[in-house]
Amino acid sequence: MNTLTTPQRLSGLPPGPPARLWGLNHLQTMKPDYLGFVAGLQRTHPDIAHVRVFTERITHVFHPDWVREVLVDQADALIRWERATEVFSISMGQSVLITEGAQWQRQRRMLQPGFAPKRVAGYAELMVAATEQALTALIAQGPSPSVNMDELMTDMTLDVILKALFGTHQVTNPRPVSEAIQTLSHSGISELFKPFSWPLWMPLPAVRKVRHALRTLNQIIQQHIQSQQSTALDDGQDLLTMLRLARDPEHPQLGLSPQELHDQTMVMFQAGHETSATAMTWWSGLIAQHPVVAERLQAEVDTVLQGQAPTPSTLQQMPWLQASLKEAMRLYPPAAVLMTQRTLSDVTVGPWTVPPGHLIAFTPYVIQRDARWFESPHDFKPERFLPGAPEIPRGTWMPFGTGPRVCIGQHFAMMEMGLIGAMLLQRFTLHWPEGAAWPEGDLAVTLRPATPIRLQLQPRNPL
Ligand code: HEM
Repeated sequence: MNTLTTPQRLSGLPPGPPARLWGLNHLQTMKPDYLGFVAGLQRTHPDIAHVRVFTERITHVFHPDWVREVLVDQADALIRWERATEVFSISMGQSVLITEGAQWQRQRRMLQPGFAPKRVAGYAELMVAATEQALTALIAQGPSPSVNMDELMTDMTLDVILKALFGTHQVTNPRPVSEAIQTLSHSGISELFKPFSWPLWMPLPAVRKVRHALRTLNQIIQQHIQSQQSTALDDGQDLLTMLRLARDPEHPQLGLSPQELHDQTMVMFQAGHETSATAMTWWSGLIAQHPVVAERLQAEVDTVLQGQAPTPSTLQQMPWLQASLKEAMRLYPPAAVLMTQRTLSDVTVGPWTVPPGHLIAFTPYVIQRDARWFESPHDFKPERFLPGAPEIPRGTWMPFGTGPRVCIGQHFAMMEMGLIGAMLLQRFTLHWPEGAAWPEGDLAVTLRPATPIRLQLQPRNPL
């Protein structure tokens, strides 16, 4: 691995492109194409770059050793950029994604057991049932339907998260729910570039849309919390029961307050479905574009499953499937940009010291396409993630983030995606429509395809 040697301390700030008009030049480039801007920075400053935008001083860290040095070793010296938490707390309240310090630690301790691999394995059956239902409906549409994969994956992952959260849920039409989540996602990213947000009561069209989206989600959550409150608290398998049972290990008499319960449910709802849907949409497109890989995957799925439904343990026997999911998330990490961090004290980044009050930014989309760590970095090559392949340097693959604030739902997501992927390949061959162009990425809170990925799903012969 091309690691940097132990650095000599350097004074001043890391190098970076000049700021003209106090950084207006940077703002103008980053606003329409943030990922293009950061990729450009990395080309001229491969390991670290400093950018000034008005009063903010932002250090972009690209070298994987330094990413870990900051996010793993010095997490206590960071809080999330206030503007981001302000924007996201509009929909996610004071949940574990938003809070900091002792409040975050307490919430994370309480939620963590519900996301341990063993507990997560308990959701496999409902994930399989939700996928089965959606795929059976597709087969009923007849041969080779042209399917909008974003819609299919969104519907499936929404069904999964609703069932995981609420047990046998009663949301008859999930489309308004996924539209509400996307509205919040789009509004979130555009708000980040503004100095303030209009209050929710303002009679402006954009605010009205956000208000409507929030009302849709709040109603569903409240309705389920209330209907669960009338039932006994047994050790149910759903996430909402887990949240209601969660106790602070240091104060076992204390659970989550009603507001916290609502906010945590909301964050699971949002963080737990759009991300997986996005990852699976890109994955399906990549599989359709790479028929040789697709054949390899189908052979693996057929051999291991022998026509049966997948389980958490059979998924472990499918290294190609796991590798293809990892490779898809390397090229298209759903969280293409991590939440920018504010330094509370001096933070060491390689040879540099970033003083308190600065911002530090991490962009998995750019870090994961660095030719120093990934040969032919823009190509889809799942074999890089197969057991026995050359080791991938730590800190270069981070679709779930890293350090203490790593995604709490990563095992849930990997299992869900594996089950959906295996069942899809078991039943269909995915074809890329002739002449269709590969879509650009559209950065909302997640990185979605800018134009829909539509595939021909050809039903396979019964096994
Ligand atoms: C492919 C699917 C997923 C991806 C790529 C993903 C990615 C991420 C990333 C990158 C972070 C850290 C954000 C940051 O530091 O800026 C995060 C945090 C989080 N994720 Fe996920 N996530 C996925 C699925 C899920 C699922 C299924 C759930 C829950 C059911 C979930 C719940 C959360 C929560 C609650 C946090 C905040 C953790 C904290 O701050 O302590 N995610 N996720």
